[in-house]
Amino acid sequence: MQIRFQPSLVLCLLVAGALAQVTDADLPPCSLSCFDPYPPQNDSSSSCRYKAEEDFETTFSPCFYSACSVKEALTALNVTSIICGVPDRNISVGMRIFVVVATVVSSLVIGCRVILKFKSLAGDIGWDDWTIVIAVLVTLDAAVGQYMAAHYGMGRDAWKIPFENQDKIFKAFYASAAGYKLGNMFVRTSILCFYLRIFSNSGFRWVVIAAIMANVAIGVAFTLADAFQCKPISFFWNEWDGMHKGSCLSISTITWAHSILNILLDVATLAMLAIMLAHDPQRYQHQKWI
Ligand SMILES: *[C@@H]1O[C@H](CO)[C@@H](O)[C@H](O)[C@H]1NC(C)=O
Ligand SMILES: *[C@@H]1O[C@H](CO)[C@@H](O)[C@H](O)[C@H]1NC(C)=O
Repeated sequence: MQIRFQPSLVLCLLVAGALAQVTDADLPPCSLSCFDPYPPQNDSSSSCRYKAEEDFETTFSPCFYSACSVKEALTALNVTSIICGVPDRNISVGMRIFVVVATVVSSLVIGCRVILKFKSLAGDIGWDDWTIVIAVLVTLDAAVGQYMAAHYGMGRDAWKIPFENQDKIFKAFYASAAGYKLGNMFVRTSILCFYLRIFSNSGFRWVVIAAIMANVAIGVAFTLADAFQCKPISFFWNEWDGMHKGSCLSISTITWAHSILNILLDVATLAMLAIMLAHDPQRYQHQKWI
């Protein structure tokens, strides 16, 4: 059978599409009491007074979530947003592009360094090299996780994400959080190992070794805190539908504490370099820095 362009078929599909238009009949019954006085019929209805996306969410979410189950509330938000013509916010493509570009650029830079080293063009291979290679591999896990989370809908409004993708987003995010924290730890370890390579002052080397141990302890502790923040662990990606039992530590507390300790470690790492250079400037003037 030959398949040809059929104008009448296209017309039928268009008409069918128009007939399948979303109406207030698609709203879950539990949500109907949330509209004052009636559910919206079209985008000029008085119940659609809140057109700006922020207002849309703050207007309807609290009532939907208290009157309905999570899934029904999301459906009610989806249907209302369509009837009221609320713009579809979606930055997930931008997120994916950013992740890919950042990963390619950083991998190229580190790749160049590793090739120079392994061809013996830039000094011996040491712990600073091994740890930066591990950092790249671990960070790749974070990048893949972020990419997949965006692929499944991170960066969109929650009510625009199909139910079957919600837990996939959380799973991808869960995997990327561990990669991020460990990658961060390995990058700083690499810099500190580099200090051990170039500085010979023994007192200073002990300070650097102490910093490496603190850095590894913090990195591992927070990675574990992240991984076991929910009981059971699967509650991290099952919590969203309100149908599972479990509990989680406050993720923002973990994130804040980790960020503050990271900033302190970064300041200490930079300060060590500044102090050593100020302490003995001549010595490092002709040092090879790669
Ligand atoms: C919107 O719905 C109201 C009735 O609910 C109707 O009177 C009005 O004509 C509709 N407007 C448009 C643009 O369809
Ligand atoms: C939102 O509603 C439209 C129209 O009913 C539907 O096609 C779409 O799958 C819904 N999206 C979600 C995430 O429920």
